[in-house]
Amino acid sequence: MQHPRIAWAAAATLGLLAASFALPNADTTRAFPRASGADGERFSLEHWTLDASETRGRKVYETWCIGCHGEQGLGDGPSAEWLDPRPRNFQSGRFKFRSSPSGEFPLLDDVVHVISCGLNGSAMRSFPLMPEKEKHDVARYVLALAEFGMMEGEVNELIDDDGMSLQEVLDEEYEDIFLDNMELAWEDVWPVGMEQRPEMDEDSVERGKALYEAQCVACHGATGVGDGDSSFHLRDWKDAVVVPRDFTTGVFRAGSSAQDVFLRLRTGLNGTPMPAVSGSDDDLWDLTHYILSLAPSESDKSVHPMSCDAHGAAR
Ligand code: HEC
Ligand code: HEC
Repeated sequence: MQHPRIAWAAAATLGLLAASFALPNADTTRAFPRASGADGERFSLEHWTLDASETRGRKVYETWCIGCHGEQGLGDGPSAEWLDPRPRNFQSGRFKFRSSPSGEFPLLDDVVHVISCGLNGSAMRSFPLMPEKEKHDVARYVLALAEFGMMEGEVNELIDDDGMSLQEVLDEEYEDIFLDNMELAWEDVWPVGMEQRPEMDEDSVERGKALYEAQCVACHGATGVGDGDSSFHLRDWKDAVVVPRDFTTGVFRAGSSAQDVFLRLRTGLNGTPMPAVSGSDDDLWDLTHYILSLAPSESDKSVHPMSCDAHGAAR
């Protein structure tokens, strides 16, 4: 994916970086961060410059997202303490539901998809009536928070440990730190491949069952209800208890189309014990078919034609 900031990074490498510079893919210029000069000033979100889309996105965020995800996107809004799972901390850079490889940032489209469809079985609601442009803008802002999260610690370490002022860091070190981090953040973000789905016949389901018994039972349990031997000790990256999905409900957090389930298997859920599954695309389709075969048979019929699930194939 050609992310705007990578294009920016390329421009910077070519020596085009100035106090303010053009973003090739955006409609405005992005100002270089500036320190206010206050004593003991540290690098904070106010210094992180936003382009026009991200600035519009921040407004959308402050209207619709801040109550759960918090003022700075740390997942600590006023409603957060009542929720399980907790709202995502965007600055952590950990996104569960992606089409990008394991451990990576999500594609912009993945974030837009979560906003459009919500995450079933969590407080993350869908925003089906939000105009596409607003979804795009707020998704850009979410990713800007994740980028800031990568930078913040490193910049403040220089201030705290090396005794530099913020202005000195910005003048002397910032460009290198920025370019390194943006490369790290975006260089491996691309949609994982997905070969065409074979038919969901009995043979495929049987092959999937054998793979499931070898790789998934310890957590998801012999009957797929999420009660495997290891299931009682699982924690996410914040040490919160996390329970393997119960496949007999037919409800998946990020969509129950075969394509959605395939992506969850191929890419894993960052920050949780749910690993990325290795194997050929055919193996993953077989596993997907087995898991879907555990869902109540009427679940397909209950998909409303306008729901995101019904649109899974079009993603
Ligand atoms: C009522 C609370 C609530 C509101 C409002 C809310 N969210 Fe969430 N959001 C959550 C929770 C809870 C999760 C974590 C779900 C999980 O871990 O499975 C989440 C997760 C997410 C994720 C992470 C997806 C991933 O792959 O890990 C994104 C992106 C997101 N929300 C974006 C937004 C945006 C953008 C808005 C505003 C337009 C918003 N949320 C509003 C509660 C909320
Ligand atoms: C180490 C334990 C562990 C193993 C092994 C494991 N899972 Fe999971 N899995 C989890 C946990 C925990 C979750 C729930 C994560 C969450 O909700 O944040 C999960 C969630 C899922 C989901 C739900 C995605 C969604 O959108 O709701 C699917 C599908 C899944 N696992 C399939 C599999 C398959 C297939 C295998 C074997 C190839 C497997 N898992 C192996 C722990 C595991």
